[in-house]
Amino acid sequence: MKVLVVGSGAREHALVWKCVQSDLVERVYCAPGNGGTGGMARNVPIGAADVVRIVEFAKRERLGLVILGPEAAVEAGVGDALRSAGFNVFGPNRGAGRIESSKSFAKQLMVRAGIPTADFAVFTQPEPARAWARERNGLVAVKADGLARGKGVIVCASVEEANSAIDAMLVQSRFGKSGATVVLEERLEGAELSVLGITDGTDVVALAPARDFKRAHDGDHGPNTGGMGAYSPPAGVDRTVLGEVLEKVLKPAVRELADSGDEFRGVLYAGLMLTPSGIRTLEFNARFGDPEAQVVLPRLESDFVTLALAAAKGTLASLPDPTWSPRAAVGVVVASANYPDDALVKSGFQISGLAEMPRGVQIFHAGTKFEPGRGLVTDGGRVVTSVALGDTVGEAREKALAGARQVRFQGAFFRTDIAEEAVG
Ligand code: AMP
Ligand code: GLY
Repeated sequence: MKVLVVGSGAREHALVWKCVQSDLVERVYCAPGNGGTGGMARNVPIGAADVVRIVEFAKRERLGLVILGPEAAVEAGVGDALRSAGFNVFGPNRGAGRIESSKSFAKQLMVRAGIPTADFAVFTQPEPARAWARERNGLVAVKADGLARGKGVIVCASVEEANSAIDAMLVQSRFGKSGATVVLEERLEGAELSVLGITDGTDVVALAPARDFKRAHDGDHGPNTGGMGAYSPPAGVDRTVLGEVLEKVLKPAVRELADSGDEFRGVLYAGLMLTPSGIRTLEFNARFGDPEAQVVLPRLESDFVTLALAAAKGTLASLPDPTWSPRAAVGVVVASANYPDDALVKSGFQISGLAEMPRGVQIFHAGTKFEPGRGLVTDGGRVVTSVALGDTVGEAREKALAGARQVRFQGAFFRTDIAEEAVG
């Protein structure tokens, strides 16, 4: 079978890496891919949201399975177009993808399905939004309704901060159309957790849990990013918590989507907080997390393509539960100077050190490309994720950090405290 992975991040590199290990697969393509996917699959110069050309390519190559990596592909309707042309797609249609692309849609769905989440209200006008925040002493999270690549959430600690976040979205339009509607939420406290479920629209299989580190700098300082690192399994998460997420969050969401005519096939990502009053759902994503995919997929011992194909075809119930390595995985993202401020990120710097990785370190590329005559150069904010498995989180972390230190380019930085909390 020929498989296409759509996207160009380290998540897609991890997906490609997993697909090439499958006995079912004769060839893997990645569109558009990056400097790393080009080494193990064939990169196809088609953008992740280029619906027409992806469908043409699928027909020409008679693809057996298409895996949607990024939200941009879901939002563009790549899933809808491929499905109506008769292809097996791992990734939802656009309508079901609103669970990620519209925070107000997601919140309303959570209320209907009884999924535990933070109190909230939806606004398009600044004055009532400011009043809602004032009543809570500014202890709110201000969220752009639409897609903002992980950067559209401002967690506030005072009325002044809340006002300026509300103004940035509703008055200064700094998040464009995505921020023309905002969701305000009560500010919650607790450890975070990502649980992803593979679903065929009816059945849901929870994947190994992970914890993602969203702030740019050590000690959870700096702005929110797409994610600076992750590890699996996270400290403080036992079977009971996982069972609760499956029964109270993932399954009800999948059922509610199906009941309202938006069947979801692919991977549904729940971003959760473990608060003193129980689990709360912060967000859903309609795809694998990045960098969660880079630490969850290496722990999966079962064949990923079999799982993805069953989700695409609606036959998940016929498969045994996937098996997982008991080893821990840690991933450390190496980013370009000034990330996540895209306007200030410069690309085109030569990358060295990748050929001398310590044993057991897997480098998943994101913002990299091959430039004739210069070799591998940077091409974006998050450049690579250095991933390692270990018998303990501590061992995996030491290796992943050693890998990250080895990646050299002008302005490179990474967090040194990923998974530190789990090391005794
Ligand atoms: P989201 O994209 O909605 O998951 O939000 C991004 C990040 O903002 C989350 O991972 C949390 O760290 C933080 N966050 C979101 N909602 C809240 C909330 N209600 N209270 C506190 N922090 C939040
Ligand atoms: N790591 C968070 C995300 O992929 O949205």
